[in-house]
Amino acid sequence: MTAGIIDGKQIAEGFRQEIAVAAADFQKLHGLKPHLAAILVGDDPASQVYVRNKERACEKAGLKSTLHRLPSTTSESDLLHLVQRLNAATDVHGILCQLPLPRHINPVTILDAIHPLKDVDAFHPENVGRLLQGRPRFLPCTPAGVMKMLEVSGVSLPGLHAVVIGRSDIVGKPMAALLMQRGADATVTVCHSRTQEIASITRQGDLLIAALGIAEFVKADMVKPGAIVIDVGINRVGERLVGDVDFSSVTQIAAAITPVPGGVGPMTIAMLLKNTLTAAELTVSSR
Ligand code: GUN
Repeated sequence: MTAGIIDGKQIAEGFRQEIAVAAADFQKLHGLKPHLAAILVGDDPASQVYVRNKERACEKAGLKSTLHRLPSTTSESDLLHLVQRLNAATDVHGILCQLPLPRHINPVTILDAIHPLKDVDAFHPENVGRLLQGRPRFLPCTPAGVMKMLEVSGVSLPGLHAVVIGRSDIVGKPMAALLMQRGADATVTVCHSRTQEIASITRQGDLLIAALGIAEFVKADMVKPGAIVIDVGINRVGERLVGDVDFSSVTQIAAAITPVPGGVGPMTIAMLLKNTLTAAELTVSSR
């Protein structure tokens, strides 16, 4: 068997066009564009690329974006003041603080300070809690992007055994929450770095989602024949970008697989645009 490719780039493109139409409607109705304020502290090369891609995507979809670029020596209190200023700015709808932050800044302090109605990453505890209770305001971008890819690819989730590898706050935990929620109805197992006999568990997954951040960790013998494999990893190995899945061997056994790059990454950005639009709509409806 050779797996079908789930083309995230193409799916994201279609979704971004829908957002562009909705953003144009918003502008016509309210006389302003949905506006994302992004904060980048320091000069981490990967973060610079991510933030640039997010800005470009905003521009292409007709959203306004503003980048607040701060030196790596910025103090936690100066960063907090910027967040507070953006919280109060009526023309800013969404706020994103790119992670990782320099080590002297506690990310929890900063993420908790972002107003929950402007929290387009859905990292604020209020938004995490709402997601767990099945009444989300914003969906976390990467897990929501995965759900959208599965939907567009025609994957029927009810009753599937979904195995998630990784328990991060950004991907693993919210991914499990979305898959188990009513309506999605998957049976979910979460594996992590302390899981024993991990292959015996991953091999049970009708749907396998790799989000652990180790290059090419998932080999063919860890995958159930005919499984759908979603690779959330982005790892740099020399000049190459590879996922958490060993694409060349797993493609021989899976029914469908997402490539890296061109899989989950573009979906994450598309979902950020959607959340920015949602944030703008929330602002005008609460006026
Ligand atoms: N760094 C890695 N992924 C993310 C993300 O989804 N949001 C933010 N703000 N920073 C990140």
